[in-house]
Amino acid sequence: MRKQNLFTGSMLLLIMIGMSSCGNKKEMVTTENFGSFDGKEVSLYTLTNNQGNVVKLTNYGAAIVEVNVPDRDGNKANVTFGYDNLEGYVNGDPYFGKVVGQFANRIARGKFSLEGVDYTLALNNFPNALHGGPTGWHSRVWTPEVLQNTDYPAVKFTYDKPDMEEGFPGNVVAEVVYTWTDENELIMDYKVTTDRNTVINITNHAYFNLHGTGNGDILDHEALIRASAFTPVDSTLIPTGELRSVEGTPFDFRTPHLIGGRIGEEYDQLILGGGYDHNYVLDNVEEVDAEVYDPSTGRFLQVITDQPGVQLYTGNFLDGTQTGRGGKVYQYRSGFCLETQHFPDSPNQAAFPSVILTPVEPFLSSTVFRFGVR
Ligand code: BGC
Repeated sequence: MRKQNLFTGSMLLLIMIGMSSCGNKKEMVTTENFGSFDGKEVSLYTLTNNQGNVVKLTNYGAAIVEVNVPDRDGNKANVTFGYDNLEGYVNGDPYFGKVVGQFANRIARGKFSLEGVDYTLALNNFPNALHGGPTGWHSRVWTPEVLQNTDYPAVKFTYDKPDMEEGFPGNVVAEVVYTWTDENELIMDYKVTTDRNTVINITNHAYFNLHGTGNGDILDHEALIRASAFTPVDSTLIPTGELRSVEGTPFDFRTPHLIGGRIGEEYDQLILGGGYDHNYVLDNVEEVDAEVYDPSTGRFLQVITDQPGVQLYTGNFLDGTQTGRGGKVYQYRSGFCLETQHFPDSPNQAAFPSVILTPVEPFLSSTVFRFGVR
């Protein structure tokens, strides 16, 4: 009888554990109010994985707000730029952690033609158009959905872009699903569809500092980029069309080098870019396309993508005027970006991989930011 009770008791316990882990699963994403913009509700989503590591997202600009990961001694810090509140996002730097579209990076003089029709975009980075225009996807409230029955915490954001908004043809539907795995991988799965031919280039514009944001610059971080060539730019940061081998240049990160090791060299492209602000032509042969490692904390970020390019941007335009989450001030070169993408100005460069999106086939793409220590 007693045995029976014990058995029943342990069955009950197991059932309760089962129930509570289901319960935990649901609570892997919590939602709180983050204000409203344009008459739409904006929320802050907290995703917690089974290591207790936290990523925060918002549906304003489909942005990554925080990534909290341990250093090699287990001390956690937020390693990405963001703001404490919606006002910061609306009035501050437009791109921190945002999904950028409909065309990430620059289009020369804001002009391109598609099937014989000329399109003109706003010149928000004179004389060029940058990151989908002044009111591109980064400045929109996306429709949120906390995904249920997933293995890991996951949130989907959708933006319905009306035809010709910011000058881009097509009623376009863009979706990004963020998944935060137990291995500290932030997966971004993109799907974009259109009802008529258009151009697409989508990225996430997160800035990282692996010391923890607000703690010095990123010149002492070591970068590895598996790219044998990059796309040199003119004085307005538009690719010239050349694919230049990195061999023998300060752009060669095929073996790890400090970001700051060669950044001050008198090399034409470093002078034009004010540092690194260039698209790399990824070799796309190994799983990890790029990695940045901080020897002092042991933290690394690996970037894995199916896109043909990645923009290494070393925060050359940061100037200490932005105060972000937790009162951290973002100084010159205190953050780096690895923006996975198609090559800048592709609509005007026939030799670059095509960025044309048709109604026949959706644009599907994935990028992973994998965090770890060693
Ligand atoms: C561009 C930089 C720009 C930065 C912030 C990067 O993608 O290449 O030139 O300053 O975004 O807008």
